[in-house]
Amino acid sequence: MAKNKNDVLTKANRQLKEFAKIVNSDHALRKVKPDEKLRVGVDLGTSSIVLTVLDENNNPIYGAFEYDHAVRDGMVVDYLESINILKRLKQKAESVLKTELTTACGAIPPNTGEGGKKVVANVIEAAELQCLNVVDEPTAAAKFLRISSGTVVDIGGGTTGISIFKNGKLTTVVDEATGGFHMTLVLAGAQKINQDKAELLKRDNSKEAEVFPIIRPVVEKMATITKNAAPDQLQKPVVVVGGATNFKDFIKAFSKTLKMDAVKPAFPQFVTPLGIAMYDHED
Ligand SMILES: Nc1ncnc2c1ncn2[C@@H]1O[C@H](COP(=O)(O)OP(=O)(O)OP(=O)(O)O)[C@@H](O)[C@H]1O
Ligand SMILES: [Mg+2]
Repeated sequence: MAKNKNDVLTKANRQLKEFAKIVNSDHALRKVKPDEKLRVGVDLGTSSIVLTVLDENNNPIYGAFEYDHAVRDGMVVDYLESINILKRLKQKAESVLKTELTTACGAIPPNTGEGGKKVVANVIEAAELQCLNVVDEPTAAAKFLRISSGTVVDIGGGTTGISIFKNGKLTTVVDEATGGFHMTLVLAGAQKINQDKAELLKRDNSKEAEVFPIIRPVVEKMATITKNAAPDQLQKPVVVVGGATNFKDFIKAFSKTLKMDAVKPAFPQFVTPLGIAMYDHED
């Protein structure tokens, strides 16, 4: 049993912190041996496209991302832009790792259907990676967090996705269109600035005291969406991931409305991308 509510994240946090140090740099966490089998994950997100590389024991080795406008609410809307970004990320990874990447795994938001899976697989194959699997995003996040019973809330650019797991099985999935983008809209309206400026202001940690009270109602809405996803049936622990949770006061405000303790790993935006790679040539 976990000694306190953060114990569940100990291993994940260590790996996330190591990964964050080298992401988008010219460094890998270690050298790749000749003919070593690697696991590659591709997360085509609304805000960024992330490529992750793990070893066979699921230890992160390398990662890179680019911001994009090619995906909206988890669905690819600009096929060519996604392919070009992924090709660049693959090339960069191969030059840093000094090896060729051959296979990869992708992901889609839950309830997207076979059509969405096919598009993700096509993007991955067009970037010359053999796509071995397309999984759903929250399941990938839960795998990286090593959670078999619990609630994973993934708050990205466009959506809040809630997934409840019981004994390793996904029992409930809810996806609602409220994400970091809506925080940006609220901030732009309140401060009478354009969206690009609001996005920068929102991400500026030194401005959190000014920003957070304005976007707090959006956080409360996200918690209400989570609470209503399965009233009285949310499994513990409730783990919140995704880039939009990057505020010091996020968990406090979210837990208060949820009326349950929630926890957040370090670098929450990298949880799903790292989990996706764990499915690449999984035995
Ligand atoms: N430091 C930060 N402070 C506040 N918000 C941030 C910060 N960094 C990123 N975000 C927000 O996180 C969101 C992107 O999160 P994430 O990378 O998890 O999304 P995504 O996977 O691309 O999107 P989705 O899962 O919705 O398709 C954006 O709205 C972005 O503005
Ligand atoms: Mg995402």
